[in-house]
Amino acid sequence: MNIVVLDSETEIATRMTDEIQAVVTRKPEANLGVATGSSPLAVYRELGKRIQVGDLTLAKCQAFALDEYVGLPLGHPESYRQTLLREFVSRTDLNPDSLFTPNPHLEGKTLDEAAAAYDASIKAAGGVDYQILGIGSDGHIAFNEPGGTLDSRTHIGGLTEQTRRDNSRFFENNLDEVPTQCMTQGLGTIMEAAQIGLIAMGSGKAQAVKAMIEGPISPDCPASVLQNHPQVTVFLDRDAASLLG
Ligand code: F6R
Repeated sequence: MNIVVLDSETEIATRMTDEIQAVVTRKPEANLGVATGSSPLAVYRELGKRIQVGDLTLAKCQAFALDEYVGLPLGHPESYRQTLLREFVSRTDLNPDSLFTPNPHLEGKTLDEAAAAYDASIKAAGGVDYQILGIGSDGHIAFNEPGGTLDSRTHIGGLTEQTRRDNSRFFENNLDEVPTQCMTQGLGTIMEAAQIGLIAMGSGKAQAVKAMIEGPISPDCPASVLQNHPQVTVFLDRDAASLLG
């Protein structure tokens, strides 16, 4: 793992966007793997800036989301599809039709079938060229919570109490409003991305970051599976890096 510790969110966003720009310059029709949550927001703003000044275009790219809540009505503003349209697509020149998200509302399919179809669609598109990741305070990536298998495919999962509490800020701090289930790319799916960049900021992530980088590869810290990936950069601020030896 390539570990990069930087002073600010702006520097982290600049460095990750540099990596994404290099991928898209080499391959204009690249498939980007996109995350929701707070960690990648500055990257989406930085991508938007570079597109505005003509340094970059995502016009030929496709984007695949990591995960989606199960149980929110179609079009709910905090669904990951709507979040990505708002925070990512609207800031860039990606065609909105080129954003793909796990779809729990797929007509004529069970949730398990919809999950398998999403997994297959990533493969059919040729796989993800650059995957943006955050990490949960319990060590999850996408919504792969501790205790699962390290080679899972896109599946229906449950959200831990800790993750639901962490995410309740998007639901007016009302825990009852936070879904208990999700459809998420599996760890095996994520590991097939050609290149991965993970962002962690703040002391609340320090324990998970230590387990990811220095701990054993174990389902107890799902992000630790990234130790087996050949091309991962972990971008940390000083607080998130504070427990590293
Ligand atoms: C989001 C996702 C999650 C987040 C993680 C960190 O699509 O898959 O794994 O990346 O929960 O969230 P933030 O960035 O809000 O701290």
